[in-house]
Amino acid sequence: MIDVRILTTHDAALFGNVADDVFDEPINPEYLAAFLADPRHHIAVGIEDGVIIGFASGVDYIHPDKPAELWINEVGVAPTHQRRGLGRRILDCLLAHGRSIGCRTAWVLTETGNGPAKALYTSAGGTVDADVDDPDAQPVLFVFQEGL
Ligand SMILES: CC(C)(COP(=O)(O)OP(=O)(O)OC[C@H]1O[C@@H](n2cnc3c(N)ncnc32)[C@H](O)[C@@H]1OP(=O)(O)O)[C@@H](O)C(=O)NCCC(=O)NCCS
Repeated sequence: MIDVRILTTHDAALFGNVADDVFDEPINPEYLAAFLADPRHHIAVGIEDGVIIGFASGVDYIHPDKPAELWINEVGVAPTHQRRGLGRRILDCLLAHGRSIGCRTAWVLTETGNGPAKALYTSAGGTVDADVDDPDAQPVLFVFQEGL
């Protein structure tokens, strides 16, 4: 049986058992502790026999002129467990958690060529932002790495 739930600070030990190719990088204990201790960072996971086999992470934030939103940061399911509805269960869990803490909307970015991710987000009720049809409103990703 696969348990899907939101993790808390008490769940750090679970990250000692993560299936291959769920996260991009090995778990860093310092980053993990900071993440779990931060009330604005959230992670929903799928656990089978004590092993994390999928996750969706997000951050809730607020702005002086806007209500709380949930930014979905990363989603991943072990290749051994894909196409079985697990990504959807985990994402639904994270979205429900976002609603429970007062987020009115959630958003996520993905690559145009990532068919599985687009299918997942559509399945969970997401719609492509209306502005995407306006060539002047296409999202452009800038990164700032030097000097930070
Ligand atoms: C995207 C990802 C998380 C989906 O997880 P998953 O557990 O396989 O997804 P699910 O089985 O819950 O499927 C959810 C929906 O997407 C569809 N879907 C999933 N993979 C698909 C694929 N390869 N092709 C077409 N549709 C797909 C399913 O049919 C389902 O649709 P439905 O609810 O209408 O039947 C998984 O493919 C993954 O980990 N990919 C690598 C990491 C990644 O790209 N993450 C997203 C970054 S933005």
